Amino acid sequence: MSTPAPAPVRHYLQFTDLSADEYAHVLTRAAEIKRKFKAYEKYHPLADRTLAMIFEKASTRTRVSFEAGMYQLGGSVVHLTTGDSQLGRSEPIEDSARVISRMTDIVMIRTFGQDKIERFASHSRVPVINGLTNEFHPCQILADLFTLLEHRGLDAQGKPDPSYLKGKVVAWVGDGNNMANTWLQAAELLDFTVHLSTPSGYEVDQAVAGLRSADCYKIFQNPQDACRGADLVTTDVWTSMGYEAENEARKKAFADWCVDEAMMQVAKPDALFMHCLPAHRGEEVSAEVIDGPQSVVWDEAENRMHVQKALMEFLLLGRVQA
Ligand code: CP
Ligand code: NVA
Repeated sequence: MSTPAPAPVRHYLQFTDLSADEYAHVLTRAAEIKRKFKAYEKYHPLADRTLAMIFEKASTRTRVSFEAGMYQLGGSVVHLTTGDSQLGRSEPIEDSARVISRMTDIVMIRTFGQDKIERFASHSRVPVINGLTNEFHPCQILADLFTLLEHRGLDAQGKPDPSYLKGKVVAWVGDGNNMANTWLQAAELLDFTVHLSTPSGYEVDQAVAGLRSADCYKIFQNPQDACRGADLVTTDVWTSMGYEAENEARKKAFADWCVDEAMMQVAKPDALFMHCLPAHRGEEVSAEVIDGPQSVVWDEAENRMHVQKALMEFLLLGRVQA
């Protein structure tokens, strides 16, 4: 008698790794998991499971949200960095993946090139989650979309309704970086448009972003024009982790790409402002905007934890129904 083949391992390495239908499920679960957390309702579906977190770059939000989130789901966590593991002493990534995935149930990695996380995943027995690479930051965009729906797109039952996103405009002001690439993947999958304004030399590369076409975005030279009529205005640091050597050149190139009140004024009157954080007031965003009434950055940061709990539940247990 033959035994059924095990279900293939699902990874979350870029935004396109889940379908629109799976996002609808995960977002609904995130709302329910958040409700339980706020009500101090115990929910331990991942008891006895272990999350390995591997950080090759610094983090506050990703570390705290994954670590606290896994404990809240009844599991436990192992925290590794390049400096305190053999990863920093050139053990091959493939060997690290084989070993770590025999001892843990799910792995989150923050690293440099996307190729590294892909090599790890292809030798891992367990799901691997992208906690930020040079190219993508899918957990952040998942949190951002959840936050947008929480504020603007709930259905009659109070559940996040991804159909709200259809036809909406997200203005991206700044670097054509991992966040910008991931917004574009989300726009292509969930049917909204990104207005992109980046300084010359810092444009998004459509091939790196992995888009099927250019239909989901429009390019604007002037950042204020990108914000006109937007439902959401968002930005990020001028210099991402790993690009510190370019800091001075970037400060000059990005000087006009600061989201300020004038930019928010041309967006829709009920437009929201988001920033994945950490932020530099007076560089990519003015203090008036990030600390102002349209900013939802603290909800956005908190929601990292709720959506990632829903994501880990989905990758390990499939479609849990309420
Ligand atoms: N937004 C985000 O990923 O923050 P950290 O770098 O603090 O994890
Ligand atoms: N683009 C930034 C995001 C930080 C959360 C970086 O990669 O450093």
